Amino acid sequence: MKYSQDKRRLSSLSKDSIYLAPSILAADFSSLAKDVISAETAGIDIFHIDIMDGHFVPNLSIGPGVVQSLRPLSNLPFDVHLMLTNPLNFIKPFADAGADNITFHYESDDAVIETIESIRGTGCSVGISLKPDTDENEIIPLLNRVDLVLIMTVEPGFGGQKFRYDMISKINAIRDYIHKEHLNVHIQVDGGIDLDTGKQVIEAGSNILVAGTSIFKNDSGLENAIFEFQKLAL
Ligand code: DX5
Ligand code: ZN
Repeated sequence: MKYSQDKRRLSSLSKDSIYLAPSILAADFSSLAKDVISAETAGIDIFHIDIMDGHFVPNLSIGPGVVQSLRPLSNLPFDVHLMLTNPLNFIKPFADAGADNITFHYESDDAVIETIESIRGTGCSVGISLKPDTDENEIIPLLNRVDLVLIMTVEPGFGGQKFRYDMISKINAIRDYIHKEHLNVHIQVDGGIDLDTGKQVIEAGSNILVAGTSIFKNDSGLENAIFEFQKLAL
């Protein structure tokens, strides 16, 4: 499959549809290409790629080189989630490696508006994320500048954690604001998403579901897991 250079693919998706964005963090890194191809063939919508610096979060993951290696394998949007203290340093490397959307954390050390503009300047769509303990009112004034808001439903850093049910009211509040102001912004959730919590976050107003463990480490197999998730979107 030939990779299209159009970086606006994620922002042009309808905000009224539900999308599944598996996190490759939970894939088998010894056969990452195989897992990526299998997931795309099974019908996922977006690849979510978690980038960790061992400082903003207590874990390391992958760098732009891996993203670049995966890029020719897929024509789906690459949604890069930067869990970095200084995201500005890595926007261009990930955009050049094939990112379509770049999400950074509101809590990172770099200036928020500068970071948004830097991502915008690469042609990628822009996401802003907030950790579970960050109040939604801190990021609400920024929502008219971004394409996506990522509400973390676990503390970022590791896959396989338990969903934080207290984030449902945060999703509701952000959804209500986006609707009231008629903003064109995806509401993404990430952390502890399975069929049960997935149904609840859709009801709460999110439309892009990131799921790692429940897709790539599902006992019933990757294809079946994706098939079951797809039914939630009906
Ligand atoms: C956590 C990452 C998530 C995580 C999701 O820091 O941002 O994308 O890998 O994994 P699960 O679905 O296993 O919670
Ligand atoms: Zn993530």
